[in-house]
Amino acid sequence: MACFFRRSIAAKLGRTLQQSEDALISALSAVPVFKKQESADFRLSVNTLRTKGILPSNGDLQLQTEALANELKQDSVVEEISAGRGVINFRVHRKLLVEKMLEPFEKEDNRFGLNSELFNTVKKGTTLVEFSSPNIAKKFHAGHLRSTIIGNFIANLKQSLGNNVIRMNYLGDWGMQFGLLGVGFDQFGCQEKLKLNPLQHLFDVYVQVNRAAEHNEEIWQAARDFFRQLEQREAQATSLWQQFREITVTEYQQVYQRLGVHFDIYSGESFHQEQAQEVVQQLQSRGLLKTTEKGTGVVDLSPAGDMSSLSTVLRSDGTSLYITRDIAAAIDREERYHFDEMIYVTDKSQENHFHQLFQILLAMGHSWAERCQHVSFGLVRGMKTRSGEVVFLEDVLDEARARMLHNMSQSKTTKEMDDPEDTAEKVGISALIVQDFKGPLQSDYKFDWDRMLQAQGDTGVFLQYTHARLCSLIQKNGDVEAGALDPSLLLEQRSIVILQHLLRYDEALYQSAQDLQPKHLVNFLMKLCHLVASAHRELPVKGSPPDVAQARLRLFSGACSVLASGMRILGITPVDKM
Ligand code: ARG
Repeated sequence: MACFFRRSIAAKLGRTLQQSEDALISALSAVPVFKKQESADFRLSVNTLRTKGILPSNGDLQLQTEALANELKQDSVVEEISAGRGVINFRVHRKLLVEKMLEPFEKEDNRFGLNSELFNTVKKGTTLVEFSSPNIAKKFHAGHLRSTIIGNFIANLKQSLGNNVIRMNYLGDWGMQFGLLGVGFDQFGCQEKLKLNPLQHLFDVYVQVNRAAEHNEEIWQAARDFFRQLEQREAQATSLWQQFREITVTEYQQVYQRLGVHFDIYSGESFHQEQAQEVVQQLQSRGLLKTTEKGTGVVDLSPAGDMSSLSTVLRSDGTSLYITRDIAAAIDREERYHFDEMIYVTDKSQENHFHQLFQILLAMGHSWAERCQHVSFGLVRGMKTRSGEVVFLEDVLDEARARMLHNMSQSKTTKEMDDPEDTAEKVGISALIVQDFKGPLQSDYKFDWDRMLQAQGDTGVFLQYTHARLCSLIQKNGDVEAGALDPSLLLEQRSIVILQHLLRYDEALYQSAQDLQPKHLVNFLMKLCHLVASAHRELPVKGSPPDVAQARLRLFSGACSVLASGMRILGITPVDKM
């Protein structure tokens, strides 16, 4: 539902300023709450009105602010209007605030905040998000974990805001590594082990063959031969490769499921190997392909055309490269899915790669490359488990679960539950996610099990704990009669600040949708949890007269529903008990 207050204040301003409501919406924002302090609910930035040309931009800002504030009169919605420094503050009638804010939660499927007028100007369409994209037989490193959870967040957010989202995994399933793997499997491989523990076995074989190949030109030769056979789609090599790929996808699907992540499409580099050759032809016919002395094919990306910045798209032996396949893949996706935007999520070491990719696509005349975006993120240091360096995603998830299970068994407040492992898994994963999403994505950070799993402090555990507490409060008081809400019973400052904070949910989502950074949403939810914790202490449900108990329960259910909705967008499955 749209925000009743934002709309009516904008309408009021619109009448005074002879402007459409829509033009004024973005100049209004909910006032951040600060501790228990009383404050106005919305503020209007007069400067924004000036930059939008709604007010003249010459003249004294403060005088203008005060003059406008004087012109605006209270009404049945706004009870107080005051001028601050370059802003006008609006305070709405308290009972109306309570009533209107809690109204949406009476409906089961409330979509609170998601249909806000803030999103009216945001284009909706088909968004293709490519994320996770690990490499077969190689390590699943911290960068892949980050890509997985960040990409999932972006996909969830876009979907919540009404986009048609395609989730794609682009596997590293092609290249010389498969030559080595093919040869390696002949020497060190075992079908039994492959069936039993596929990822581990493929990785072991890959490590072994790499070691063996170090001083052995014969192995290299055999690997090149094997890869050549693959490129020519020879039956035997292809069927082994196919088997590796299928097994890997099946395994990954299971681990992704634990993370609550799914993909609509498992694509991969192998799909675009032939198209990559067509790309080379197209580059050639457009006069974009240059051949170097070494015999490689390059595209000159330097502004001056002096070959000072190059992208190699063809090896001297005529095989394609990572970027060539990416060019082909992008063109193919555009043709197949007609996306309105495409988002690639990888660590920042690939910034240059994507920059070049988009440049080449534009040079080829694909103007839709303007609608492609690379979301990059920093490095994680020290992601280790008790058994050492992380090789598989599964190990990180196992460790998060084990550590959380241990913490739960140590804590006096832990409840009896049917499936503690499952709860520990969900809470452990939320700890991983929040640790990752707290800061700007571009920053590097240090992976720290103890810190991320703390019950206090801004952790995923704290979010889950607050959610579980709210659920148990609601459940325990299920017998409190639900009649009409009396808003005058929720006028304590402790409840007002929660409602005021809820006014900002759409703004947090809007900010995250603008810069694709989860931190805005994380900060919003953390603050909500802190406000809820104080309210929980000071506004008891149990022992209060029935109408008071009921009103408070309404407030807590509203908070709980927003908390759960926000957590889900982050990729966290809220637990009801812990
Ligand atoms: N498989 C690559 C890696 O592990 C990531 C792929 C990113 N996506 C792309 N379209 N290049 O580094």
